[in-house]
Amino acid sequence: MEYIYKRRSVRNFKDEDIEDRDIEAIIKAGMNAPSAKDNQPWSFIVVKDRDTLFHLSTIKLYGKMLKSAACVIVLIANPKTVFWQQDMAVCCQNMLLEATYLDLGSCWCGVKPLEREEKRLRDFFKVPDDQYVFSLIALGYSDEEKEINDKFDKKMIHYEAW
Ligand SMILES: Cc1cc2nc3c(=O)[nH]c(=O)nc-3n(C[C@H](O)[C@H](O)[C@H](O)COP(=O)(O)O)c2cc1C
Repeated sequence: MEYIYKRRSVRNFKDEDIEDRDIEAIIKAGMNAPSAKDNQPWSFIVVKDRDTLFHLSTIKLYGKMLKSAACVIVLIANPKTVFWQQDMAVCCQNMLLEATYLDLGSCWCGVKPLEREEKRLRDFFKVPDDQYVFSLIALGYSDEEKEINDKFDKKMIHYEAW
């Protein structure tokens, strides 16, 4: 699947809006990820307000790119099962791949398990206290030239046992 290799983290975006239907397609891809017991522990906050995006870029560690994004999707997790973090990660990756397919640049910005940062974002977005901010996904048209990325490394593969 070429989009696995084409996807790269993008940290510079063009000053160009993205279509609502693309945002919805990206969220739909996330919602169709596998999850333990099919619990689907995710919900999403779509942020396009420029002041909010700027604010996010000032409070999110390694999140300076958030201010130039056309949109940020905040992934919220309901920790219903012990596997919720895996569920959220696969949801996030589905979303990045869909964004790549739609010719959009994206960057996963991890939040959970950074306690202080997570709480700050949870309060900012008024997320209920029994849920967590898992990650932010910055989206927009890429303003970077990036090579196709193949990190295949045979040394990391073991057969039958380590
Ligand atoms: C759990 C997780 C958290 C990440 N958090 C950040 C982040 O806060 N800021 C950032 O610029 N990139 C973040 N990234 C992107 C990684 O830095 C990036 O995936 C890695 O450097 C490999 O580059 P590539 O995505 O272009 O293949 C994160 C990626 C993952 C999977």
